[in-house]
Amino acid sequence: MTRRLVRIVSTAAALVALAAGTRAAAQQRNGEAYSTTPEVVREVYDMRAAMAPLLLGETEVRGRALFAQRCANCHGGTRQRPGPLLGKRTVEKLGEAAIREKVRTGSPMMPGYEHTFLPAQLDELVAFLKTFTPRPQSAGAQE
Ligand code: HEC
Repeated sequence: MTRRLVRIVSTAAALVALAAGTRAAAQQRNGEAYSTTPEVVREVYDMRAAMAPLLLGETEVRGRALFAQRCANCHGGTRQRPGPLLGKRTVEKLGEAAIREKVRTGSPMMPGYEHTFLPAQLDELVAFLKTFTPRPQSAGAQE
């Protein structure tokens, strides 16, 4: 009876020591603490907006495709996508003619599309921008 108890206690002690050893090994590497648990950043997507049907005409849809292909990658209003957010407000602020000119000639920070877009495609882009309200990026997207 006593021998059995001793065996159980020593087995338990060995297991505790083993677990402690494993933990210590898992939390130290090259003398630095690290975690094996990945940090999960959750983002709540607005699924209703994502699933909503597109209420755009032919022209605007084509403009939207051009915008996604040529402009959206830079125009995020963040450090990595430094172009200002574009949309309805930009058209109101600058006027259609100025936007057309900007897209044609570009700037030191933006390519010009004079030899890329046909005039009709510039119309499509502007038509799309007039329907568009950009969503400000979340703080997490700033890096
Ligand atoms: C390589 C990155 C880049 C790409 C691609 C790009 N832009 Fe830009 N754009 C910028 C930057 C940076 C600015 C702000 C500096 C400036 O005005 O030149 C800007 C400014 C603008 C402005 C002026 C905005 C304002 O409020 O003054 C308009 C309009 C514009 N871009 C339209 C477009 C359109 C339309 C496209 C796609 C056909 C496009 N850009 C593609 C980087 C880019």
